[in-house]
Amino acid sequence: MKANPKRYLVTAALPYANGPVHIGHIAGCYLPADIYVRYLRAQNKDVLFICGSDEHGVPITIKAKKENITPKQVVDKYDGIMRNAFQDFGINFSYYGRTTSETHKTTAQDFFKTLYDKGVFKEEITQQYYDEEAKQFLADRYIVGTCPRCGNPNAYGDQCEKCGTSLNPTDLINPKSALSGATPILKETKNWFLPMDTIQKSEEFKSYIKRFDNWKSNIKGQCQSWLNEGLQPRAMTRDLDWGVPVPINDANGKVLYVWFDAPIGYISATKEYLNNDTWKDYWQDADSSLIHFIGKDNIVFHAIIFPMMLIEHGKYILPTNIPANEFLNLEGDKISTSRNWAVWLHEYLIDFPNRQDELRYVLTSIAPETKDSEFTWKDFQTRVNSELVSIFGNFVNRVLVLCDKYYEGILPKVTSKVTDEKIISDYSNCIKQVNESLEKMCSNLDTFKFRDAQTEFINAARAGNKFLADTEPWKLIKTDSENVKTIMFEAVQICARLAIAAEPFLPFTANKLKTMLNAENTKWDDLFNAIILPENHKINKAEILYKQVEDIEIQQQLERLEKIKTENQKSTNTTSQLSSENSKTNQLHPVKSDIVYDDFDKIDLRVGKVIEAERVPKADKLLKLTVDLGFEKRTILSGIAEYYQPEELIGKLVTVVANLAPRKIRGIESQGMLLMAGNDFGKLYCVSPEKDIEQGSVVK
Ligand code: MF3
Ligand code: ZN
Repeated sequence: MKANPKRYLVTAALPYANGPVHIGHIAGCYLPADIYVRYLRAQNKDVLFICGSDEHGVPITIKAKKENITPKQVVDKYDGIMRNAFQDFGINFSYYGRTTSETHKTTAQDFFKTLYDKGVFKEEITQQYYDEEAKQFLADRYIVGTCPRCGNPNAYGDQCEKCGTSLNPTDLINPKSALSGATPILKETKNWFLPMDTIQKSEEFKSYIKRFDNWKSNIKGQCQSWLNEGLQPRAMTRDLDWGVPVPINDANGKVLYVWFDAPIGYISATKEYLNNDTWKDYWQDADSSLIHFIGKDNIVFHAIIFPMMLIEHGKYILPTNIPANEFLNLEGDKISTSRNWAVWLHEYLIDFPNRQDELRYVLTSIAPETKDSEFTWKDFQTRVNSELVSIFGNFVNRVLVLCDKYYEGILPKVTSKVTDEKIISDYSNCIKQVNESLEKMCSNLDTFKFRDAQTEFINAARAGNKFLADTEPWKLIKTDSENVKTIMFEAVQICARLAIAAEPFLPFTANKLKTMLNAENTKWDDLFNAIILPENHKINKAEILYKQVEDIEIQQQLERLEKIKTENQKSTNTTSQLSSENSKTNQLHPVKSDIVYDDFDKIDLRVGKVIEAERVPKADKLLKLTVDLGFEKRTILSGIAEYYQPEELIGKLVTVVANLAPRKIRGIESQGMLLMAGNDFGKLYCVSPEKDIEQGSVVK
């Protein structure tokens, strides 16, 4: 990397706005990015930290289908949740954008248009899977079948999540549409391809990939294997209705490929933030350093495809580094949003209020920097208690409490030189260790080794703690109060240095400690200063930095996970699955909170027989039914026209909520409601008694 770039543009992968943020996201991408940016900012570097919600792409549309809402509703909901979670954890973006913004749309379209006008794309007519029932082309993720490599029956059209192979939909054995379950047919469609095979051979690209030599080995390895296999042209447009419309004439009903539009999201977010031409300084000036923080599943897109787009565009700089992380597992299992196997940030904060730094600390300690790693609650407890509480917290607390006790918080004047040989040597050992650790901490931060960097931070605190244990000022105070002054004075300086050093990793603690030390204005530049706080400086009362994590707290977390495991097992046993995506049931429709029997008993459920059924004019979804409840007939409007023909329903026994207050729909009074069972593909089926039974029978 260039030794001293004029400015830094740090990005963190735009998370898909289809679920909340969990510890895997944080450990893999956002926390290391935040640490790095805090470190740069502390040094007064010119740095922008850009992120945002990735709001296009098939995962969003799948989620929308499952929840029976629009994609826009999905992204609005999760954009808010994610934004808050990041903020709550002190992930301090300069700007967090959204790929549904207007600026993004025009930026992505302009980008596409530039490449199109330059003749970069290859236009090709290909055969794509088409679902005749759902009447639409199927995105790769919407096709499920058997993996040709490992036999996993739930592989997707783009990837088998079991063996990790990336696939084409036509590779799947026995493909099925995830929309309707039907076997899709192949149908012709035109799309625009990025000729990655040709770009791979270009001089610019060849010169760009020399940068890989300085990158982490996990990313280098992955890229090298892609390159060795030889890159294939990839479609940059898709037959979908959710995304940025392709800005050319004969591309009706097509949108930009999400991996084309999303990384451009970094650019559009920068534009939105800076709101004038200065965004170009960060993106187009060779003196800027572009650094992408991502997880390993994003490597090819950031290290190969996006740079190819930038090269072909011609005006942009290319990434200086991409410190990608591997994956974090949870208690022996892969973290999975669909199986709710995760520790969610917003939930953590409910159980551990104001203890963000504890989680930040542990996640950095175990960050999957070079290989997959694992979070366990027991380990969380151990690391917090034996490192944060016993070393860092304990040191700071002892220093501040003793200062208060001996000197009422006023740093003593060190009157005479220390004469005691042992104290001299204890001190010089300590300070040597502190300096060494903090130096290593910085060089590790420079090279994206955040785990090691944080270890060195704790080593510095450990040295301070040892200094107190070795010199035992609380004993010495009775016999040698002059030397105690020196000890305490020096110990306070170390606390101040730790407060500075803590900032990238433990920002909440750093602030708290600076306040306690009455040293809010200390600067990163002071990190290696022997004296930061002068004699007579008044420090404030000590507050505990970290509480012990109790067994009961860990127990509760483990019980929660145990419960999820049981629920998942139940749902895999009972639902026949088209794909593993379908096991999302629990996560998508979490069981509502408990009610008592009396609540249930308020609902009057009856068996009824449909005796008339007709469509409601100008309402695609509605049927108007007459249902005989035995004791009376009711008119009921039901939104099931997509699932049942009116004539199919005549004579059918259904379950009716008989005491639902009547309401007017389209000018017709609906006097009750039908119970329907809905699956995750949006299908609805009537809930009917197993055997014929009299109309009016009570369902209980
Ligand atoms: N949304 C993608 C994911 O969660 C990451 C997109 S990164 C960007 O895997 F570069 F495309 F923005
Ligand atoms: Zn496989």
